[in-house]
Amino acid sequence: MTRIAVLVSGRGSNLARLVQMAASGDLGVQIAMVAADRECPALQIAREAGVPVFAEDARAIGPEIWQARCLERLSQAGVELIALAGFMRVIRGELLDRYAHAILNVHPSLLPAFPGKDAVRNALAHGVRVSGATVHLVDETLDGGPIVLQEAVPVLPGDDADSLAERIRSVEHRLLPQAIQLLAAGRVRVQGRRTVIV
Ligand code: GRF
Repeated sequence: MTRIAVLVSGRGSNLARLVQMAASGDLGVQIAMVAADRECPALQIAREAGVPVFAEDARAIGPEIWQARCLERLSQAGVELIALAGFMRVIRGELLDRYAHAILNVHPSLLPAFPGKDAVRNALAHGVRVSGATVHLVDETLDGGPIVLQEAVPVLPGDDADSLAERIRSVEHRLLPQAIQLLAAGRVRVQGRRTVIV
């Protein structure tokens, strides 16, 4: 079974979904490690599930050292594929090189609209009628790598950032596991900016 790592910085609802699917045998890959760049609720989910964690504060040791140590742990754990699920840092350098086309990120907008932080808030402030969720491969750009899966979520009258974010998150909870399964099965081919699902 493909061994994956999930990188987190926050609440961990996507991680919780992945852990739940892994436990019931529906994920089809093994969560071999969870890495966090700070103490966060997501870490608790990993610990309770008995998943090995790498948790060092990147603010204390600096992002380069954090990524180097994380890479070491990923190699030791035999991780082949990485999912960023609310991970608040850009992956760079050797970590990115070693996992080229093997890192997925989930983002709460229809990219390339509203990359970066506060995507849901920014989309609402812009007055969009439709937003959504995107799962994409990670490259050196911020939320800019080739898109694997994307699904629209309508903005409803009276929506605020919390209500819209919640509906987007429930879509993320379907799309991220699906993208992980496709990538693990070797079904995602990258052709320039596009991906083809075979
Ligand atoms: C999600 O909305 C994801 O798109 C973004 O960060 C959020 C993480 O949520 N990158 P959670 O920590 O999985 O609940």
